[in-house]
Amino acid sequence: MPSIGRLTYLDAPPRVAARQGRQQETLLLIHGFPLGARMWEPQLTLAEHGWRIVVPQLRGFDGTPGDPPVQSVDDYAGDIIDLLDGLRIDEAVIGGLSMGGYITFALFRLAASYFRGMVLADTRPQGDSAEGLEGRRRMLTLVREKGAAAVADEMLPRLLGESARGDQRVVDRTRALIEANAPETIAGAIRALMTRPDSTPLLSSIHCPTLIVVGEEDVITPPKLSEDMHRAVAGSELVVIRQAGHLSNLEQPDAFNAVLARFLEHRV
Ligand code: MLT
Repeated sequence: MPSIGRLTYLDAPPRVAARQGRQQETLLLIHGFPLGARMWEPQLTLAEHGWRIVVPQLRGFDGTPGDPPVQSVDDYAGDIIDLLDGLRIDEAVIGGLSMGGYITFALFRLAASYFRGMVLADTRPQGDSAEGLEGRRRMLTLVREKGAAAVADEMLPRLLGESARGDQRVVDRTRALIEANAPETIAGAIRALMTRPDSTPLLSSIHCPTLIVVGEEDVITPPKLSEDMHRAVAGSELVVIRQAGHLSNLEQPDAFNAVLARFLEHRV
């Protein structure tokens, strides 16, 4: 993968010319926790619709411990701003899944002018509840004592919906994405997630075209949270993906891509 600043990234150039009268446009997708850029591989085919697809590997998720380690979701967002500047991209459709959504909110708070549109997949604006923070502390202990494989064991049943849990290819792919990460990287991300602010007050200031997608079987950020976001973001579009859990883009890539392609084609 090429690198700019602190980040390596996947870069799929558009496979067809930009639509007539339109400039070359970029879709930037931010990965979830505790996965990696390659979770977005099924979406790279969107380059066939004339979009450049850029997928950053967040700091530390490239197998190196991350130097210096992140302290907050704003650190992740700052790295992405450096990447956009390094690639000379002034404006893009920017989005992410789950933690990628939390970072999308941080990026919007820091630098809204980069947003041509926004994609919020299986995510939520709220910070962690007291119960959620307790779960994070348990996960910190688990990753320090038992490593990434134990985190995969713990998270897989909740990351994947009941329909995908029986699909060995999706299970194996998700496990491999998690196990590729160093325990320090996962621990650093947990600490960043624990300190993220509540982004709910931001929602009413989002005025770019916004797509909200959620798997109907998502138990980590259930559809109800997406319905609430949809009501709070003026003019947003909400799509529920059937037979998908929290990793809707990996579990139902064709349905996810069809929704995203339609949004890019008609709403942005
Ligand atoms: C993710 O998919 O990024 C995580 O489930 C987010 C979280 O744990 O809040």
